[in-house]
Amino acid sequence: MTTPLQPAAPPRTSRALSGIQPTGRFHWGNYFGAIRQYIDLQPGGGHQAADEAYYFIADLHALTTVRDPARLRALVHAAAVDLVALGLDPERAVLFVQSDVPEVTELTWLLMTVCPMGLLERCHAYKDKKTRGLPADAGLFTYPVLMAADILAYDATVVPVGEDQVQHIEVCRDLAGTFNHLYGEVFTLPRPRLVEGGAKVPGTDGQKMSKSYENTIEVFEDLAAQKKKIMRITTDSRPMEEPKAPDDDHLYQLYALLAPEADRLRMAELYRRGGFGYGEVKKALVEAAAAFFADARARRAELESDPARIEAILAAGAAKARAKARAVLDRARRACGLDRSAPAVASGKGKP
Ligand code: ADP
Ligand code: TRP
Repeated sequence: MTTPLQPAAPPRTSRALSGIQPTGRFHWGNYFGAIRQYIDLQPGGGHQAADEAYYFIADLHALTTVRDPARLRALVHAAAVDLVALGLDPERAVLFVQSDVPEVTELTWLLMTVCPMGLLERCHAYKDKKTRGLPADAGLFTYPVLMAADILAYDATVVPVGEDQVQHIEVCRDLAGTFNHLYGEVFTLPRPRLVEGGAKVPGTDGQKMSKSYENTIEVFEDLAAQKKKIMRITTDSRPMEEPKAPDDDHLYQLYALLAPEADRLRMAELYRRGGFGYGEVKKALVEAAAAFFADARARRAELESDPARIEAILAAGAAKARAKARAVLDRARRACGLDRSAPAVASGKGKP
């Protein structure tokens, strides 16, 4: 006997979303740890691509650290130029600035009302500052709630992030779950998507590359300045002849990210054989980096010569993003009883 065919469930739209803070110029860690993944997830970007992609420059988050208005404006513009130059395609992904969608801040409040203090007290951005005895403002404390609103406002299903952000996605899922439990199915629960391999890009001193450690190599810094930084990358003092394990060396790790496969294999062999100087590796890294980002640099120069073009891209992105966020916010407002003109879509279970 054959079982009757079940009607197929309608395929769910996969929607990628992520935000990146404009707190400095992008470095190799940001590119390999985040931006490259955004590009791969754009519709049409290969087998891993999502059906839709929303990416934004998180200027509201950056306000907790960048206190100079002219600098913030410049960093937001530069971030947009860099993202497009690196391959984020505004025809395929919605690129916008976080604060251009005020619906998100209203949604933040709705989520704040269902957010236990303890949940935020456990979040690392705030906890780290507190344990170091540094003053923290309410913006930093409530940062994960704003981030949750960023995600929920667009019905995102997948959020490409680095390991450090996974905790915040869990907070987002928690808040969405609580809200849905109280008021009906309003929000889509997203899942994080970690970069393949999850490897951390090392900085010039071998620690994780990060602005806070001042060990970054920026993607678009002047090539002469970049060369100087590369030539100063720390190395060990073992004799040249000694064979070395390539994967344990941060200089090699950087080279492996940037060099063509055949060159990488040749370099790994050189390490295993020994008898080379780190100076040679650094020179090869300088060249590999210049070649790897050459097209992006050319696109960046072109975009920079036409600032109105980037602003037009951001305005179009904001309009699309706002339309989506408005619909989600209206759904949430109606569900929790803020919209007096419409009957509730779902019967709220109410608070105990
Ligand atoms: P920074 O540590 O320089 O302040 P951010 O925290 O603004 O960088 O990082 C933005 C994004 O880039 C995050 O998704 C983060 O996980 C990723 N990222 C930053 N540095 C690295 C790194 N060294 N290796 C891998 N990913 C990184
Ligand atoms: N907090 C993220 C970071 O510092 C940036 C961010 C803000 C974000 N809102 C987001 C990332 C929403 C993913 C989804 O890297």
